Amino acid sequence: MLIDSHCHLDPTVFGGDDGVDDAIARARAAGVDRMVTIGSGYGFESAERALAVARRHPETVRASVGLHPHDAKLATDASLAGLIAMADAPEVLALGEMGLDYHYDSSPRDQQRHVFRVQLRAARARNLPVIIHDRESAGETLAILDEEGAWETGVLYHCYTGDVAAMEQIVGRGGYVSIPGIVTFKNGETMREVAARAPADRILLETDSPFLTPIPFRGKRNEPAFVTYVAQKVAEVRGVDVTALADQAAENTRRFFRWA
Ligand code: NI
Repeated sequence: MLIDSHCHLDPTVFGGDDGVDDAIARARAAGVDRMVTIGSGYGFESAERALAVARRHPETVRASVGLHPHDAKLATDASLAGLIAMADAPEVLALGEMGLDYHYDSSPRDQQRHVFRVQLRAARARNLPVIIHDRESAGETLAILDEEGAWETGVLYHCYTGDVAAMEQIVGRGGYVSIPGIVTFKNGETMREVAARAPADRILLETDSPFLTPIPFRGKRNEPAFVTYVAQKVAEVRGVDVTALADQAAENTRRFFRWA
């Protein structure tokens, strides 16, 4: 089994609902059995759109809903409460992606921290795992996860770009890391080290489509079918068979998201 644990099947970037459905069909034809579409990153509306995709594809797709740190500036108490209420839908398996992004600083840092903590508390109250986006927060993301007791309900660092030492901090707390197509890039050496050394039961595979298209499709829009190339590269650096690696990552994904 092969799962894309993190894609943004947003109709606004895939050419409408038909474009999303076509991308899902291509993924299935490529041997990708399941996908988690992330309703976060395109404003509040992305959560509703992700849920709609999951409802249209009950056999294949589940959703996560959240507010990306880039969009933290849009949040009010009421809009956050509305977003969090969507997590009660059975198609929603997690909250996120959420976290801190001090690279782009698209929202004021205080607001990023506030919106992050509100979502972590909501996830804990609902016993849901969280998907983390962390960029250049210099350990602050980890500190907030510790303070909020987030590890108890499950933490996944998506598109994991830290080094091996930082990865060990995450898995040591019971967290998971997910590896995107950067692992195929020429400058992806650090990620290949992480992919090689992450514990077998803590590693997930993702595309983060429509971005981060793996080699050999760089320059093209990314889509879940291309998680096959991520799986191949991760299997190669770990020195294991690609089918075994895909099965192990799928098992980890199902355990993390509690997706039977
Ligand atoms: Ni993403």
